[in-house]
Order: sequence, then C-alpha cells, then structure tokens
Amino acid sequence: MSHLFPVYSRWDVEPISAEGSQIIDKNGKHYLDFTSGIGVCNLGHRPAKVQEAVENQLNSFWHVSNLFIQSKQDEAAKLLADAAGLELVFFSNSGAEANEAAIKLARKATGRNKIITFTNSFHGRTFAAMSATGQEKIQIGFGPLLQTFKHVPFNDLAVITEELDEDTAAVMLEIVQGEGGIHLATKEFLHELQILCQSNGTLLIVDEIQTGMGRTGKPFAYQHFNLNPDIVTVAKGLGSGFPIGAVIGSNKLGEAFGPGSHGSTFGGNPISIAAATVTMQTIFDSGFLKEVTKKADYLRNSLIELLSDPLVVDVRQLGLMAGIELRKEAAPLLAHLREKGLLLLPAGENVIRILPPLSATYEEMDEAMNIVSAVLNEVHAKV
Ligand SMILES: Cc1ncc(COP(=O)(O)O)c(C=O)c1O
Repeated sequence: MSHLFPVYSRWDVEPISAEGSQIIDKNGKHYLDFTSGIGVCNLGHRPAKVQEAVENQLNSFWHVSNLFIQSKQDEAAKLLADAAGLELVFFSNSGAEANEAAIKLARKATGRNKIITFTNSFHGRTFAAMSATGQEKIQIGFGPLLQTFKHVPFNDLAVITEELDEDTAAVMLEIVQGEGGIHLATKEFLHELQILCQSNGTLLIVDEIQTGMGRTGKPFAYQHFNLNPDIVTVAKGLGSGFPIGAVIGSNKLGEAFGPGSHGSTFGGNPISIAAATVTMQTIFDSGFLKEVTKKADYLRNSLIELLSDPLVVDVRQLGLMAGIELRKEAAPLLAHLREKGLLLLPAGENVIRILPPLSATYEEMDEAMNIVSAVLNEVHAKV
C-alpha cells in the first residue's frame, strides 16, 4: 500500500536518472521527455551550469532567514525584474504561492475586492489560486470558494467591459492557457484589455508560470503582444527543477508590500536562487531565445502536417508550447506514446500538450514528432 494521498494518477514510469531531454527508468528504458517536468526543466535535466552553481552554494550555506541581507537574492531579483520591464520582486516557493502573493498585492494596493479571471484558466491549488482558477473540476468539494473571483469567457471583450467596475482590483490571465487546453489569448483582446484596465484603475496580472522563462521564445509570453502588465507571476522554469516562484511588480506597488505585510520562510532560499540565477542568465540571452524561436518554427511544420490526420481537430502553438486537439480522449494515446518511449502531457480531456526542453535538438524534435505520427497511424489502423 502506498502511504501517499492518491491525488495523482501516476504513470507506470519510475525514473532513476535523467540528462538533457532523456529520462531512464528503473527497467533501463529510455524516454524522450517532452514534458520538461510540466514546463520546469526548460534547460533539460541537470544542466551542467545550474548543477555547478547549486553545488557551489551547497558548499557555502544552505539556509538563512529572510531577515538577513541576501545580495544574491537581490541580484536574481534584478535579472528577473529587468527581463520583465518591472522593478520589484518577491520570491516564493511555487507558482500557486506566487499567485497567492499577487492576489494579496493587488487587493492591498488598490483597496478593491474583485478580481476577474477566465474560464478554463489554471492558477494553482492553494485556496485563493484554486478559487481564481476557472475550472470546476479543480474546485469540486472544496466550496464555498473565495467570493473575490469572477470568471468570464476568455477572449470576450464585451463581457470584460461589462464586468470591470470601480471595485475591480485586477484582471488575471494566462497568455496561453496551459492546463486548460493550450488556448491562446488573441492580440486584439489583450490590446483592448490593457486599455480597459488602465482606464479603470484595475491592475493587469499575467500568470507566466507555464508560459514564462523563454518557453515561447521571449522571456515572457506577454512580450509578444506589447503588453505592460502591473504584476507578473513566474515559477516552474525559473529554478530548472529547484522550487522557486516569484511575483514581479511595478515600483508603484512597493508601498503595499511593506515590512511585515507578506513573507515566506523558504521563499528565495539560497539553493533555488543559485539555480534561478544561472537559469535566467542562460535563458534571457537573446541568442538563446532566437534559437528557441527557430526550433518553434521547425516544430510548427510538423504540427501543421498533423492537421491532415483524421483524428486531429486543431493544433495550437506559441513558441515551444504546443497542443494537438484530438477527436478523442488524449489519455490512451499518451499511454501509447509512453510505450514508444515518448513522454507528453494532457491539457484538458482531448488535447496532447508538447513542452519540450528549450534545449531539445532538432533530431529530438524529429524523433518525437515521428513517434506521434506513428502512434496516430496505429490508432487508425485499429479503427
Ligand atoms: C499557469 C499556471 N499557474 C499556476 C500554476 C501552479 O503552479 P504550482 O504547481 O507551482 O503551484 C501552474 C501549474 O501548473 C500553472 O500552469
């Protein structure tokens, strides 16, 4: 009997080692890992420079409280804030905690109550982040939820215009809804949303927890759309696998998060900061990001070819974040792909999500897409 609460439906794969895009399981089977730990291992498994930085920090000190000056935290905050075009950072341990902090910050800074989020969104599992999430299946049995959140249809300007009022503290959204099925915000929607928020004194919060850290070919996905959010949340890929999240905010919000207003024992711990610093130095380099965009273009060609498959309804992509919408449930196909040595994720019921490491090679992308085509063909052959 397992002594773990059965909150995860686990795959029949037990990793014993991993490097780059490869995982080896306890039976010696090799897998091509195009999940990246759900968008975490953006530099692949165990990138050497991150390992070195973490080892150096392990040999120096592991933990001191946030009551001490930690200049490495400050240096990491500068890297993050500069990349986002903002000024202030609070480090947390996870994505949900980053969103939790963003929600608190928006409420306190505006003195307003309501926060608008979107149908099919995902913002995490803590109480506020779960209440913010626009998916009933995440919330079943946990009600009553926090009444702060109003969920509205994604990309629908008319409803937003109706809902924004003088009590609206913030609008919070993902540029690409990851868990919700790889749905992209439209350019027109984002442009108008920003204008509406600004004219209403409402803060714009962009949840970049899955889309950030170079995943889409820019440091953050909102940077494809000329947006200037007031608050950005990030986690997952920030620490290359070491737990860390962050809220990035504009200078004007500094007063709302003064001494004693928020905190975390482990947030910004030295090990995760060491990992995050090297991760950011690597990913925010313009040459690295250009290469991500080239790889994304390359992947797009194979995705478009899949559109001729009778099982495929649609393909959607921003950078190296892609979804293949199927006419049937994704889970059995994903199991089939695992048998063939390829690890991919679901996104909602019918969508296969592809999140390769940003360091994946062109050969690995070919290999992955060949396996996907072969498995789709096998499914046709059986029908
Ligand atoms: C967009 C988004 N926000 C928040 C979260 C929650 O992050 P965490 O699991 O680190 O709490 C996730 C996790 O999948 C996510 O994709």
